[in-house]
Amino acid sequence: LVQSIRSFDSVDSTQNIAQRLAEDGAPEGTLVIAEQQTSGRGRLGRKWVSPSGKGIYMSFILRPSMPLHFAPQLTLLTAVALCRALRTAAEPLDIGIKWPNDLLIGGKKISGILLESTAEEERLRYVIAGIGISVNLTQDDFPPELLDIATSLQIELGKPLDRSDIIAGFFEQFEQLYAVYQKEGFAPIRMLWEALSVTLHKPTRLILASGETVATPIGLNEQGALLAKKSDGTVVPIFSSEQVPAG
Ligand code: BTN
Repeated sequence: LVQSIRSFDSVDSTQNIAQRLAEDGAPEGTLVIAEQQTSGRGRLGRKWVSPSGKGIYMSFILRPSMPLHFAPQLTLLTAVALCRALRTAAEPLDIGIKWPNDLLIGGKKISGILLESTAEEERLRYVIAGIGISVNLTQDDFPPELLDIATSLQIELGKPLDRSDIIAGFFEQFEQLYAVYQKEGFAPIRMLWEALSVTLHKPTRLILASGETVATPIGLNEQGALLAKKSDGTVVPIFSSEQVPAG
């Protein structure tokens, strides 16, 4: 999948660089990677802590020929690929996926995924898949307010890991799953996601467009929305603009 790699010392956000390249016609598989980001961003307008040389900060271009509403499935696919790669790289850590696409160890976040899509007439023109992994960060690298909710592979394992091995492992997994997805659709990916999820079968406070409610996530639907069972027995689909809080 990876056609060319653009490496930078310091960028504002690898998402911005990849987007500019995509607008200039860069092909699927163009990978932007940086040692440091000065404005790394996460979902819902959050910042992504990106200290120099410690984490993996990368964004790559996808040009899938599909309708815009399939984009959430690509996010879930990316989470499965990353979870599998990190489980292998950081054995024996128990790494799981919190819906839609956070990777957690013992309830603390070690990695986040940000997919930004550009569409034309309801079809995807390109997708920028951004991945941040807290690999060799130490406690001192996190702002104090994040210490209860974020961690790194080094903190959990007690030793540093080679970042290029992790990147290679991720793309190996991603390529395999992307091929399966393009051939067989979302069903096989959905099963893998459900097996790696730490979100399912636990009653959770959900923040929906319609307000807050307590429900139990029970799986994904074919679109990639999370299905949650409410106390009255009804099942509602939850889309990724809505939130499942941590804890
Ligand atoms: C999240 O958990 O909210 C998503 C975090 C995504 C962070 C990565 S780091 C590489 C890429 N560049 C960015 O500015 N963000 C993504």
